[in-house]
Amino acid sequence: MAKVTFIEHDGLEQVVDIPTGWTLMQGAVQSGVAGIEGECGGSCACATCHCYVDEALVDFLPPPSETEEEMLGCTASERRSNSRLSCQVRVSDALDGIVVRLPEAQS
Ligand code: FES
Repeated sequence: MAKVTFIEHDGLEQVVDIPTGWTLMQGAVQSGVAGIEGECGGSCACATCHCYVDEALVDFLPPPSETEEEMLGCTASERRSNSRLSCQVRVSDALDGIVVRLPEAQS
């Protein structure tokens, strides 16, 4: 289980407990985090689960797959060095306490 703080583009914060093994997207959608859409259900085919992970985590997380890299080129909001698709980031205890910022738009 990890406690994850999602911060919407307008600054609204929501702290969500996400079970180990779930993805950030699953945890966000399940908890009604508005800034994550997750239209494709997590199959890395829509880029509506775009998020900006904690800068400190960028090198800690497994790198994006080739498919995620491609989809990160299709995000509605600016791609940054800490951009990830939240359906591709699996939660572990090591992510407890992380902060995930959400872009202005997902589609
Ligand atoms: S939910 Fe569609 S790419 Fe993540």
